[in-house]
Amino acid sequence: MSGSGKTLRLGVAGLGTVGGGLLKLIERQAELRLPGKLEVVAVSARNKNRNRGVDIAKFRWVDDPVELALSDDIDVVVELVGGSDGPAKRTVEAALRSGKSVVSANKALIAEHGMEIAALAEKHQAHLLFEAAVAGAIPIVRAVKNSLSGVIVSRVSGILNGTCNYILSEMLRTGAAYETVLAEAQRLGYAESDPFLDVSGGDAAHKVLILAAIAFGAQPDFTQVQVEGIDKIEAMDITLANKFDYRIKLVAEAYRSGGSVRCRVAPVLVSRDHPLASVNGPLNAVVVEGEPVGRLTFTGPGAGAGPTAAAVMGDLARLFEGPATPPLGKPSRELAAVITAADSTNDQGSFFIGAKLADKPGMFAALTEELAEAGVSIDKLIQESAGDTGAAPVAIMTHPCPRASVEKALAKIAALKITADEPRLLRIETRA
Ligand SMILES: NC(=O)c1ccc[n+]([C@@H]2O[C@H](COP(=O)([O-])OP(=O)(O)OC[C@H]3O[C@@H](n4cnc5c(N)ncnc54)[C@H](OP(=O)(O)O)[C@@H]3O)[C@@H](O)[C@H]2O)c1
Repeated sequence: MSGSGKTLRLGVAGLGTVGGGLLKLIERQAELRLPGKLEVVAVSARNKNRNRGVDIAKFRWVDDPVELALSDDIDVVVELVGGSDGPAKRTVEAALRSGKSVVSANKALIAEHGMEIAALAEKHQAHLLFEAAVAGAIPIVRAVKNSLSGVIVSRVSGILNGTCNYILSEMLRTGAAYETVLAEAQRLGYAESDPFLDVSGGDAAHKVLILAAIAFGAQPDFTQVQVEGIDKIEAMDITLANKFDYRIKLVAEAYRSGGSVRCRVAPVLVSRDHPLASVNGPLNAVVVEGEPVGRLTFTGPGAGAGPTAAAVMGDLARLFEGPATPPLGKPSRELAAVITAADSTNDQGSFFIGAKLADKPGMFAALTEELAEAGVSIDKLIQESAGDTGAAPVAIMTHPCPRASVEKALAKIAALKITADEPRLLRIETRA
């Protein structure tokens, strides 16, 4: 059992990217700085015969991860199956009910069922740790929950999905289209064969909701997170935003607004000197802002076998330290802050519009007239040659105005068929 110099007996459910990485890291535990010893007793996955690049014959094989969670000779269940429901949830619940510690990398599970699972862990005084669920190797869950518990957090924001960040960075570097770069990301293993959860913003939404719950003492409620992905972004948007000295990043953020906490994920423009602008490729970054510390920025690899396994290992090391504390920082019944849906139509600020003008005379004048009519004034504008494509790329940065005014103008622009495509409307982050 736990305690300095003791041995923790592990059951590992899920032997894929992260589970395989963890077994390899456990083999090297003599090189690590753990307060005790880890012993893998049993493992579970779907296919016993799959080659995992690591010898699993020395561990007891259990077909059903729930059975593994109930085994008497296991102290800790490491859940690396994934998915918000199904076997992962049943495994975690079974382990917690029998008083076992749980370490998980499963952001979908914590974001969508965090309240009930945290309450279950508290009831049974069991550890439930999930550092690997947010931003891979960056130790942000522990930092916000423990090290920064003396900070009154006003905002947590960041780049929380490495796949999207890789795609946006490569679109800027190469000028290639979204579909081309996505295919390359899949080939390199940065994107899943079904990339929907990543590119739709859903994965980043899970992660920012977990951070919001801990940072603001709020009940995680996934239905209230406003989510927009990167799949509509065109290479021309990224190229022209760059000419304005801005980068397009998928930014996840949680912040206090009025009496509640808002959570949202959307592609936004950040100026070149913003801390998130230089975070490129599959890297993640998290910015925590609050009193009395100001701003703290954390950067590092957000996914992959090694970095994620290292985060799981950090949680395992914590198990030697002493009794369980509430998984979401405060006891779940004291999570008083409420997350309410961010309503972007009420946004005030500067906006970016990217579009291609239809190949007809007078379209440029018509575009600017419709914006002026809606009370939207143009700060900067680039129009490029249509070349032989027949549609001229245009990018506009507005002066501060209500988002609703820009949306009203874009509705008219669509009705008049002024553009050859559906214009992209992105918020510009004005805080440096
Ligand atoms: N990959 C990353 O970089 C990363 C980063 C951070 C967090 N995470 C999280 O870590 C978790 C695992 O991700 P992963 O990338 O390692 O996934 P993965 O490669 O797809 O591995 C999933 C594992 O779960 C097993 N499994 C699936 N259904 C099962 C069932 N019904 N019963 C028993 N085992 C089952 C699979 O068995 P088979 O191998 O036999 O098919 C596989 O070993 C997820 O929650 C994910 O969100 C992943």
